[in-house]
Amino acid sequence: MLRRFLGLVTALVLGSLVLTGPVSATPAKEAPWLPEAAAYRLTLFLGNLEPIPWGEVMRAWSQPYRGSDFSVGAVDWLKAESAVETAPLLDAIARKQRQMVFAEATRLIGLRIGELLDTALAANDTAAAQQAIRTARELFRAFADGIAAADPDASRRIGIAWLELASSSGSSGFLGVGAAPADKASMTAAREIISGYLAENYVVDSFASRDKLTTVPETAARSGRAFEVPPSLPPGSDIFDQNPLPRLVLNFEERGIDETDLPLVAYGDMLFDSTQIFGSPARDLGITCSTCHNRSDVNQRLFIPGASHQPGSIDVDGAFFNPIFNDRRDDPIDIPSLRGLRFTGPYGRDGRLASLRDFTRNVIVNEFGGDEPTPFMLDALIAYMLEFDFLPNSMLMADGRLTEAAPKAALRGEAIFNRPFEGLGNRSCASCHLPDANFLDRQAHDIGSVAQSYKGSRAGALDTPTLLGTAYTAPYFHDGSLPTLAAVVNWFDKTNKLGLTDADRADLTAYLETVGAADKPFEAFDAENTVFRLAFSELTTFASTLETLLPRRDAKHVLLLTDTVAADLAADASTMSNLATRPKVYALANRLSEVGAAVREKNWSAAEKSWATFKTEAAAINEGAY
Ligand code: HEC
Ligand code: HEC
Repeated sequence: MLRRFLGLVTALVLGSLVLTGPVSATPAKEAPWLPEAAAYRLTLFLGNLEPIPWGEVMRAWSQPYRGSDFSVGAVDWLKAESAVETAPLLDAIARKQRQMVFAEATRLIGLRIGELLDTALAANDTAAAQQAIRTARELFRAFADGIAAADPDASRRIGIAWLELASSSGSSGFLGVGAAPADKASMTAAREIISGYLAENYVVDSFASRDKLTTVPETAARSGRAFEVPPSLPPGSDIFDQNPLPRLVLNFEERGIDETDLPLVAYGDMLFDSTQIFGSPARDLGITCSTCHNRSDVNQRLFIPGASHQPGSIDVDGAFFNPIFNDRRDDPIDIPSLRGLRFTGPYGRDGRLASLRDFTRNVIVNEFGGDEPTPFMLDALIAYMLEFDFLPNSMLMADGRLTEAAPKAALRGEAIFNRPFEGLGNRSCASCHLPDANFLDRQAHDIGSVAQSYKGSRAGALDTPTLLGTAYTAPYFHDGSLPTLAAVVNWFDKTNKLGLTDADRADLTAYLETVGAADKPFEAFDAENTVFRLAFSELTTFASTLETLLPRRDAKHVLLLTDTVAADLAADASTMSNLATRPKVYALANRLSEVGAAVREKNWSAAEKSWATFKTEAAAINEGAY
């Protein structure tokens, strides 16, 4: 059965695709896509990857997109709903012809819109006409960002035509009262504007070849001018924070030191949450370090089609984030936790970089195409990340042994964990996962979990990962190939012929679960500690570094801060449940923008003044109830 989703919001999305000013790190929920529009957007996205994942392009049309409200894929949907042919498109995909796929897919969406407009004009009853218009407009959204970027006049003209079309389609009134007939002449005129534009730009016989597949209209593409369509993630992407949100354990905080007294750390905390340190597209999409490393841990839901093979994984050296850093290997990696980072070097799953500084610079410049960070930025990020602690676990003693309070099965499992096995070269699990060294040995071992990349390759060694906190970071191994800790135990038993009994395996699993557990793994939100309050206190802490930066007349780092925090404050205001306080938070965000604007004009006294006002206003909000 086909399931139709009714509550689609399109107007919002048409407007929000135009980027103004810095993008905040708080992603906005996107309206759902119709199957064929989703498949089209996915096709453009995947078609810009290098190499193109053709299997995924085919799946984009044959299956519903991740999180779709429809139970069928675009091809089946069209078969049931439309007379538009999908065969030419599917043929082009099967032949892996990039330009042809672009042309066929673009035409298909254009024709489909035309088909729906025909239905609307032919309809005798108002409800059917309006439904067709709504659907057509939802599909038109697939092209909207390209038109807005390349042809803003047309974008406005067509926007009005859609409104005209809907309003002239009549009204069925309420309980028979106030019914108005359709004004066919107005409808036809409005439809002409839309269809005329489609005919010139999207339903054309031959498209100019394109280096980058975008929704820029054909006339603009042929004009020879370059148009930047703001980057967007394809349908099915998820960059929202994990829910429940992992609890962040910062060493200084546990020792009772306030972050506002640690300006370098606070600045690093801000950078960890800043889109501004990355290049496009990461920056424009609102991606930050904490998008993937939620609260120093992992984001198990992060998913970007073509770059993730499952939630919580990402190919950071693929074509999407920075083409120049594309290693042309489709190798998404499970996001590692950064808890206890100062004990877990060398860095990278394979421990390729000994220095956290080198690793961090590589993330910013190479993986996400950002500008060269200043020494101060690297100092700050590292000062912050070195404060990440493991989650406290009262079942463990300081030397990593279980306490008496641990479950019996776990205690039995501890003995197995420490037992040498012939299959492990007379080593035990504990030889690599040293209990008194945070369950790791800071060595790389080839345990056979990495497929040989070529015959004779010896590059399968990976750093021993910690076992602390792992109860909350499924799936396991660098590629996330094992869904549970029990599966890891089975893997070792099988691969290394450990000869464990069912009971042994259950006990060893219980041990891993106990070692990997924590007293309070997640942030607990309630009426007092709201999502907004947490964000607000974070953002005002970030801002507190102005206290150090303004007297130093450090324009570059002040601006990086004000651009980041002003955008985030405004975005977080939108999550407030106390609507009355919202305008005050928006005003506060403006205050920070004022600091930035004054610094851009080198008017330091004005900047100091706005900063003083910010502090007063922030304190007032803090005292108020929200
Ligand atoms: C799109 C997701 C994503 C973003 C954004 C991201 N990372 Fe990572 N991070 C990963 C993945 C995946 C790995 C594992 C990569 C590897 O081993 O090659 C990783 C590894 C790391 C490691 C090594 C951890 C270890 O123990 O080996 C550090 C440190 C790190 N990231 C810091 C950062 C910082 C700092 C930022 C922001 C400047 C950042 N990451 C942004 C996904 C991300
Ligand atoms: C020779 C060193 C070595 C030995 C011995 C060893 N491990 Fe590991 N362990 C590793 C490495 C390396 C990885 C990372 C594998 C990967 O990511 O593909 C790992 C991964 C794991 C993981 C997954 C952690 C995560 O977050 O993904 C668990 C759990 C684990 N080992 C438990 C065990 C148990 C139980 C034993 C004994 C049966 C054992 N290990 C023996 C080196 C070792």
